[in-house]
Amino acid sequence: MNLKVERLKGQGLRGEIVIPSDKSVSHRSAMFAALTGGVVEVKNFSMGADCLSTLNIVKTLGCDVEFLADKHIKIDASNALKKDIYKLDCGNSGTSMRLFSGIMASYETETTLFGDESLSNRPMKRVILPLELMGAKIKHHNFKAPLVIQGKELFPIDYKSPIASAQVKSCVLLAGLNTCGVTKVTEPCVSRDHTERMLKYLGADISINGTTTAVKKSKLEPKNITVCGDISSAAFFLVAGAIVPESDFVIKNVGLNPTRTGIIDIMKSMGADIEILSQDEVCNEPVGDIRIKTSQLKGTTIEGEIIPRLIDELPVIAVLASQAEGTTIVKDAADLRNKESDRIKCLVSELTKLGVDIEETPDGFIVNGKTNLRGGAEVECYHDHRLAMSLYVAGLVCEQPVVINEFQWVDISFPEFLGLMNLLH
Ligand code: S3P
Repeated sequence: MNLKVERLKGQGLRGEIVIPSDKSVSHRSAMFAALTGGVVEVKNFSMGADCLSTLNIVKTLGCDVEFLADKHIKIDASNALKKDIYKLDCGNSGTSMRLFSGIMASYETETTLFGDESLSNRPMKRVILPLELMGAKIKHHNFKAPLVIQGKELFPIDYKSPIASAQVKSCVLLAGLNTCGVTKVTEPCVSRDHTERMLKYLGADISINGTTTAVKKSKLEPKNITVCGDISSAAFFLVAGAIVPESDFVIKNVGLNPTRTGIIDIMKSMGADIEILSQDEVCNEPVGDIRIKTSQLKGTTIEGEIIPRLIDELPVIAVLASQAEGTTIVKDAADLRNKESDRIKCLVSELTKLGVDIEETPDGFIVNGKTNLRGGAEVECYHDHRLAMSLYVAGLVCEQPVVINEFQWVDISFPEFLGLMNLLH
């Protein structure tokens, strides 16, 4: 589907929206439910294609999955993980492939994990190496999928991860969950901690000390889970609200886990008129409502420990930076090149077509603002949901209409995106 985006005329974005389910938390809810051996209801499960890949995997593993209502599922894991051989289709989802690698390596089964073309080109060495240190036997093609894992009883390790990656950390911790002894992971700086929070909620023996997390072999309790809203989805609305003239609206039920709120910190430091209205806690995850208004923005430098706290938001932050006075520099984000697309190269090429003054660097990009974006171009999203939505937000402030090719890729994480955008204008 090729989508035409036009500049908003008249009143800006107004009203109130409820942000749908967090992708990372939804993945983990279905995966961990499958490990309980019992019955777990998950409310507000993401209907994005990535989380549906995980749900299909959970079914392949022998769980009975029933939809009780909209986004409300019941997972019965009483017959899970009883077979000797599994073939698991991860689709486009890196989280499914990397987390299930850790889970399956510790069970006595043979598992093949495969995915689409994009996923088959993404780096898996980051999970293969620590799993091999634990004694896992994994066949791969130059450290790429498909991965064939001969599961067995593993040894605990004390792993010093060279990158701050929640997928790597979670992979090792999930292998450790079914391994005798204490498995530890230390990261260079803290990445998102949804695995740790949910494992604790389900009764696992897990402890955190600074950047080190330790887990002991544990049986998970089948407890019901409610998934919070996704701050990475909210980010497109936060940026749209800040840059579209005369906007003022409220985004409800946003996950406010501090390992994910880098976008809020950066927007505040750039001068955004952003306010947290209320806070609550759902299944060990903080949530809240956010009000955003059109803002006078200034450039900033984004580097170091904040990067893992906003890694998925960097494409839309580039759009924000184009509407900020001065220069915005993003550094230490080379891993953006390993996401669903090479997010540095693709972002720079497509935003340049719209008139953004943006330059590629090896580990990030530099944006000079503020620019009146001309638009009037056809852009590609390179099968990348976050690029598609970032280009849409840019299109809202372009002088001429923008056509985004293959916009349907938004369905990977956020099928509700266009409907919610339309509610605000
Ligand atoms: C995710 C972790 C992040 C993020 C991805 C989801 C997760 O990847 O980019 O969208 O659910 O654990 P890395 O851990 O590889 O940085």
